[in-house]
Amino acid sequence: EEGLHAPVHPWEHTKLYKTFDHSALRRGFQVYREVCSACHSLQRLPYRKFVGSFMTVDEAKALAEESEYDTDPNDEGEVEKRPGKLSDYMLAPYKNDEAARAANNGALPPDLSLITKARHGGCDYIFALLTGYPEEPPAGAVVQSGLNFNPYFPGTGIGMARALYDGLVEYEDGTSATTSQMAKDVVEFLNWAAEPEMDDRKRMGWKVMAVTSVLFGLSVWVKRYKWSNVK
Ligand code: HEM
Repeated sequence: EEGLHAPVHPWEHTKLYKTFDHSALRRGFQVYREVCSACHSLQRLPYRKFVGSFMTVDEAKALAEESEYDTDPNDEGEVEKRPGKLSDYMLAPYKNDEAARAANNGALPPDLSLITKARHGGCDYIFALLTGYPEEPPAGAVVQSGLNFNPYFPGTGIGMARALYDGLVEYEDGTSATTSQMAKDVVEFLNWAAEPEMDDRKRMGWKVMAVTSVLFGLSVWVKRYKWSNVK
């Protein structure tokens, strides 16, 4: 059963002549970290990727050091703890899928690294999902116990409760943290996580266009020049 079709929004960061908004990425990461990371992993992203995108080297290093990682086993096979470093990947909130399901009424919170690519509707779907929980399920809707009603989720009964509420986080840049603002920021951040090379791709695209149009112009000129005595 399909969910309600998500409204389509004019996402700035997907436009051909736009790049990711780095302030939005910074806010979106804050939302992921303070809200979503309680249940969702983001396991494909090493801290080093944050550098230059929305953090300084020092900020990313300090963030990495807040988490503890196992050292490689020594000759005796012993494993110790060490602070994280830039090359580490972010830790998952649960030890394994069983633990994750046990904490979420049997539902498994998916890893969010590629979620904007993995779900039909991408950014629009996730935005609609996050902002689309009604106060009450509509009259007549059947919601299984332990599930929450969300019209955008296929089947409408979702294991995730509403996660975002106005004022839940405090943005350092003074942006007002409304539900929709946080949803927009975290969606843009998750799109960046899934396609960190998008900006480079667009920049390269423009260079390719510039170079090929010059070459095309040149080839037209050469063709006319070579054939000019035939006319
Ligand atoms: C599912 C995003 C916070 C628990 C999902 C899905 C997305 C998502 C995109 C997949 C929906 C689908 O399969 O189509 C987010 C974001 C969050 C957030 C962006 C932060 C703003 C949380 C929190 C919890 C949670 C805090 C736990 C308290 C779950 C669970 C599912 C899920 C259990 C699986 C639901 C099911 O399959 O029925 N979330 N989530 N999420 N999330 Fe979250």
